[in-house]
Amino acid sequence: MSISSTQAIPATSATPEHVAIIMDGNGRWASQRFMPRTAGHAKGVQSVRRAVETCGRMGVKYLTLFAFSSENWRRPAEEVTLLMRLFVQALEREVNRLKEQGVRLHVVGDLSAFEPRLQGLIQEAQAQTEYNDKLHLTIAANYGGRWDVLQATRKMLKANPAFALDPSLIDESALSDQLCMSWAPEPDLFIRTGGEQRISNFLIWQLAYTELYFTPCYWPDFDESELVKAFDWYAQRERRFGRTSAQVHAKK
Ligand code: IPE
Ligand code: IPE
Ligand code: MG
Repeated sequence: MSISSTQAIPATSATPEHVAIIMDGNGRWASQRFMPRTAGHAKGVQSVRRAVETCGRMGVKYLTLFAFSSENWRRPAEEVTLLMRLFVQALEREVNRLKEQGVRLHVVGDLSAFEPRLQGLIQEAQAQTEYNDKLHLTIAANYGGRWDVLQATRKMLKANPAFALDPSLIDESALSDQLCMSWAPEPDLFIRTGGEQRISNFLIWQLAYTELYFTPCYWPDFDESELVKAFDWYAQRERRFGRTSAQVHAKK
């Protein structure tokens, strides 16, 4: 695991190294136009493409997108089916573009719930981009922060049976090393489009010291200028990680 914000003070810069986005508001974007919710999801794919390109250009190293939560199965079956179809299509159509752009694709979440064809496409797309490292694009699909902490706990105990006998042996990194994005730094900037101000079970462990940005803009309308606005806002934050402002200034 890279530097933990609670164990050490991470180096930060004006441009976020890791951006995590809850892409929300597709349904409302479509409803406003008297279109089916699914039209909003289809349009949202274009915003994904745009966000990847812009982040690549701005020097972001990790972009993590929440595409489907562990609670989204509660939606009407037709909507879930359409979302899965869009995911399949995007994997089939976009991998070449990702390869050209130097993007490495990761998909995280409980993938065992997906149909075998989708699981196969995910494996293939990850393998095809595994030598890229300009930008790590992570799609969180059937992902839940609580699921992640639970699966990490199980893995940790399996790897270290002694922990069950003496839990005082457990430290923060023993657990965080097993989280499904243990290879990435914690997000610097979190963005949620669509106006809601909640985490909705996204990266609950990793967001401990992330700057949280909320915008009413619906995801299908989230373009380069909206992303730049979020980055400008981020650049103005003073990230103290528990210290005083004077201490932060003394460090500069
Ligand atoms: C986000 O948009 C996409 C997914 C959750 C898959 P929504 O579908 O949640 O759109 P709203 O929030 O209903 O407008
Ligand atoms: C969060 O959006 C999940 C994704 C964007 C994939 P939701 O629309 O599901 O969140 P809630 O239900 O409004 O909290
Ligand atoms: Mg929503």
